[in-house]
Amino acid sequence: MARRPIIAGNWKMNNTASEAVELVKALKPLVKDAKCDVVVCVPAIDIPAVKKAVHGSKIRLGAQNVHFAEKGAYTGEISAAMLKEYGVQYVIIGHSERRQYFGETDETVNLRTLAAIKAGLTPIVCIGESLEEREGGLTQKVLDRQIAADFAGIEDFSKIVIAYEPIWAIGTGRTATDEQANETIGYIRKRMKKVYAGKNVGRMRIQYGGSMNAKNAKGLMAQPEIDGGLIGGASLKAADFATVVNFDK
Ligand code: PGA
Repeated sequence: MARRPIIAGNWKMNNTASEAVELVKALKPLVKDAKCDVVVCVPAIDIPAVKKAVHGSKIRLGAQNVHFAEKGAYTGEISAAMLKEYGVQYVIIGHSERRQYFGETDETVNLRTLAAIKAGLTPIVCIGESLEEREGGLTQKVLDRQIAADFAGIEDFSKIVIAYEPIWAIGTGRTATDEQANETIGYIRKRMKKVYAGKNVGRMRIQYGGSMNAKNAKGLMAQPEIDGGLIGGASLKAADFATVVNFDK
């Protein structure tokens, strides 16, 4: 069965609720004929406004993080049930910015991923190597470690999305070439099939992320291993994000 492409915007810490509504308003007509799944992962406080704004469109709602506990003394955190109640369907987990600036580890990424699945959210789990790791020939080693640790305990991989995001390509304008992205995502899929045999890995979608934009989306999406994109900067402009979503037009 062919995997349905999925294009997700990662707004990061951008757009107040009113700005978010404007962006979604502009985006809606531009993506109405999309053949892929379209998601916007918005700041938590924008969720109620964006839920209303996307109503009646193909745009699905995503968050940028979720805590692993069901509830309790975790000041500043948000639970899966809180997201679910607002119609959130997707949640980014383990973004490199969270790993780099907020102490996210493979262990907490794994816990958050399991909690999201348990609550019926689709996690978009980010993995990828740094520039030093790539230049040191360590890409596969790093991915092997993340694959073993971040996804332990998952029984059905059709329920998750992976975003392969080489850290050196995020927000730098330096995209992986179509071939580099395809090759590395192919490696991830092969490795996952081996480590998690019999757990529906073949149906799991793997996105590319890192300076993907209106200009390079078509080429990346033409690669057989690439099932979608996680789009940062280019998701903040309706026209640019829509061009990525409509990569097949
Ligand atoms: P970028 O961000 O498209 O701005 O490089 C991608 C991401 O961090 O998810």
